[in-house]
Amino acid sequence: MLAETKAQAKILLKGLPSPRPYSEPKEILMVKPDFFQVKYAINPFMKDEKGNLKKVDTAKARDQWQRIKWIYEDIGLTVHTLPGQVNLPDMVFAANQSLPFYDRETHQKNVLMARMMSEHREPEIPLFQTWFESHGYRSFTLEDTTLHFEGNGDAILHPKLPLLWGGYGQRTDRKTYEEIARRFGLQVILLKIQREEFYHLDTCFSILSPKTVALVPSAFSKESLGIIHQVFGQVISIDEKEALENFAGNCFCPNKRDVILQKGSPHFLKLLEKAAFQPHEVDTSEFLKSGGSVYCLKMQLL
Ligand code: ARG
Repeated sequence: MLAETKAQAKILLKGLPSPRPYSEPKEILMVKPDFFQVKYAINPFMKDEKGNLKKVDTAKARDQWQRIKWIYEDIGLTVHTLPGQVNLPDMVFAANQSLPFYDRETHQKNVLMARMMSEHREPEIPLFQTWFESHGYRSFTLEDTTLHFEGNGDAILHPKLPLLWGGYGQRTDRKTYEEIARRFGLQVILLKIQREEFYHLDTCFSILSPKTVALVPSAFSKESLGIIHQVFGQVISIDEKEALENFAGNCFCPNKRDVILQKGSPHFLKLLEKAAFQPHEVDTSEFLKSGGSVYCLKMQLL
């Protein structure tokens, strides 16, 4: 089922099974940033005020990426890595090429591959598909070839439930979620992203635990916000400036406690601490030049 209004969401939520006992996923996939650059502009962050493509300091990017990887390892996650590719400068944003999910009945690991809006990024997909297939995942692609889907950048699973938060309106098509709901038995709550600066759901909506979400209110309609409040006991509002300048909304919490985020968002930091999360500030300045930060730089595996 798909839900877009509060009334529909009420029915959808009633029909959800009870949360499955599960252990938090402990594995992450990252792509080495050796070939990361800004070579084209496909979002509002990739050009400077003069209209030139931003220049990446590759050595700095490598160092920043390595530090994030160390934090994951320090908090007990296993990090798998894929090599980058010379002509795929955005491949480092490993959240966008796929959406891994469990088949609830068989507990088989599945992955739905993305279909990118930009042809620059399309060749990234088979490289991820091969990786997933050689790691025990059954892979799927969208049947309707007219549809776009940018993986976990727009589609975010609710922990423990067959419930998908489906962001659309910028990169991913609304109709994509009709196919996902029909084929994979997932319940989908649709979230239309209202502002083009938030071109992926993961730039303005970050699930920190089954009960807590951090979001940028102006990215969503009143109706959507109402549904979100129906589901989450705690909704942390991210300051808009911090979300746009620092990608605060692109933080990542792998374990209901540690939150890894771009440094320099004091308002958000305070709110996280107040809600008893443990923030880890990192510097992703080079990746911000491409419109990405912590959340986009990894794929959480099953
Ligand atoms: N330059 C990349 C793009 O526009 C950045 C992707 C960032 N990823 C994300 N999940 N927000 O596609």
